[in-house]
Amino acid sequence: LADKSRDVVWHEHKINKTQRAGQKAQRPAVLWFTGLSGAGKSSVANALEQALFQRGHHSYLLDGDNVRHGLNRDLGFTDEDRVENIRRIGEVAGLMADAGLVVLTAFISPFRSDRAMVRELMEPGEFVEIHVKASLETCEKRDPKGLYAKARAGAIRHFTGIDSPYEPPEDPEIVVDTEKLSVEEGVDVVLEYLKRRGILH
Ligand code: PPS
Repeated sequence: LADKSRDVVWHEHKINKTQRAGQKAQRPAVLWFTGLSGAGKSSVANALEQALFQRGHHSYLLDGDNVRHGLNRDLGFTDEDRVENIRRIGEVAGLMADAGLVVLTAFISPFRSDRAMVRELMEPGEFVEIHVKASLETCEKRDPKGLYAKARAGAIRHFTGIDSPYEPPEDPEIVVDTEKLSVEEGVDVVLEYLKRRGILH
């Protein structure tokens, strides 16, 4: 891709992200949930957002519902499309963190290199990689949307874990093992981390 941004001038803003985060007692952050389909990314991320809201924090959850139906409706599930999916989501998450929000993202994001690329977009300490972990066997047993069965039957191509790879994080900030923890316990693990790191006060 040609870089068409060469002649675009970067303007320094007068208000910075700490100011935008305001009196919310929070530091902007990107909480990046990654894991297989059916591992529980959306469940944990949604419950965490509720917990943040109840504590008066200002957050935004990016997930398939508001991204794959809108901004990324032109993208499918080939490797190439997933790379572009995550690139755009990373950019949007960066803008939202710049707006002072605690951003939660819930995408499979199967490739290590893409997650590393998004981490690089953020300021040090801002990107929190959360591996929502469950074995393929467990996810396939849960099969909440019946997609694994369809993929096994050959009705869906390039399905993660079946005929498309998932590269688990090697050194994530947090692991939420949904085979061992309830959703609420998973939320508590993340909240603890965020307080310890001074992202939430
Ligand atoms: S990715 O890999 O990060 O670009 O994927 P993502 O944007 O998170 O989309 C995953 C959800 O799309 C549904 N779906 C598929 N997943 C994986 N592979 C294939 N081929 C596929 N086709 C549709 C599926 O419901 C995923 O949702 P989750 O919430 O992960 O179960």
